[in-house]
Amino acid sequence: MRKLFNQKELRQQFPILQQEVHNKPLIYFDNAATSQKPQQVIDAISDYYCQDNANVHRGIHELSERATGKYEAARHKVATFINAPAVTEVIYTRGATEAINMVAQCYVAQYFKAGDAVIISELEHHANIVPWQILSQRMGLEIRWLPVNEKGEVEITKLPSLLADGKVKLLAINWISNSLGTCNPVAEIISQCRKKEVLTLIDACQVPAHQRIDVQAIDCDFLVFSGHKMFAPTGIGILWARKALLEKFSLWQGGGDMILEVGFDGFAPNELPNRLEAGTPAIAQAIGLGSAIDWVNKLDLEASSDYEHQLLQFATEEIVKIPDIKIVGQAEHKSSVLSFVFASNFLHPSDVATLLNLDGIAVRSGHHCTMPILKKMGLPATVRASLCFFNTFDEVETFIQSLQRIQQKYG
Ligand code: ALA
Repeated sequence: MRKLFNQKELRQQFPILQQEVHNKPLIYFDNAATSQKPQQVIDAISDYYCQDNANVHRGIHELSERATGKYEAARHKVATFINAPAVTEVIYTRGATEAINMVAQCYVAQYFKAGDAVIISELEHHANIVPWQILSQRMGLEIRWLPVNEKGEVEITKLPSLLADGKVKLLAINWISNSLGTCNPVAEIISQCRKKEVLTLIDACQVPAHQRIDVQAIDCDFLVFSGHKMFAPTGIGILWARKALLEKFSLWQGGGDMILEVGFDGFAPNELPNRLEAGTPAIAQAIGLGSAIDWVNKLDLEASSDYEHQLLQFATEEIVKIPDIKIVGQAEHKSSVLSFVFASNFLHPSDVATLLNLDGIAVRSGHHCTMPILKKMGLPATVRASLCFFNTFDEVETFIQSLQRIQQKYG
């Protein structure tokens, strides 16, 4: 049964969707790469530039006061959105990548020693692999891989043996996989780590557009996400960390805003959160993030993600009827991501994406910044359709028909 909520009305709030690509209505199935922006978020950014544009924390004139007020109000919205115990624990970053790199450089590189270990899963985005590999090269940090089975599920039963010798100091894992859609059991993983006094970092990039985040309920130590995957602009992300950990962070960058005082003989650093935010920040982007949070807060996220699951189920049932299709990632708990290949490889995933594009359908093809897991699965690339609640069953049907034509013509 197709269950609809106010889907039609929600869809109308995304102006970008009202266009044609190659003379076909745009079907946007690349939501895991970046989400589209509702009119409310676009207006918030536009209003800021039309009415309030000024630098923050630096002026006493009206515009600067307004800009600072909106910029800091957005930080409060983030704190409430993720149930952070304190607003000073919310650090603005350029994105999740920068946030993970900050944890690596400002905490792990400072307080871990050679031979200490970090666990990451085989299913991580490069942004949650390479920062640890850099530290492995520079300081002898050991990386331990939490294995992933052929369905794309993290093998949580292997965790106790990875933790057993007491060398692991941090586990860093995604909550929802961007490439396969697997929803990882983060609360259970964190609980096992907590018992061993192992810190946990959660890459929540794919989460806020689909489900609620509560850092106190899952009990992690660090959590990161990007604005642009939750209807906000690019160029803004969040690092949340427990206050006691953030207070120990070494400085990230030097410059304006991160100082209290500078002299010829040195400087005194600012308080958190500004201490870790040097330079003129991404003001409009932060305000856009605040507006996206307001927008998401008005959504019935349970109903919208239920709808997304129905869409995914429909797409999955239909796509497997096409000869030669192989779905990559068949975890029991999945977000609305459908990764697939033509098994006999008569077309490279990028060729499939190019042909879909000619039908107005936007999907991502490639390794999705998760080369290790695809290599383990013996694949250089997949085609990935990532769905959002503004997508429709008719769009899924059009996508399936397009794939059928591709299979008939080239298969
Ligand atoms: N991480 C983004 C994706 O999954 C770019 O496509």
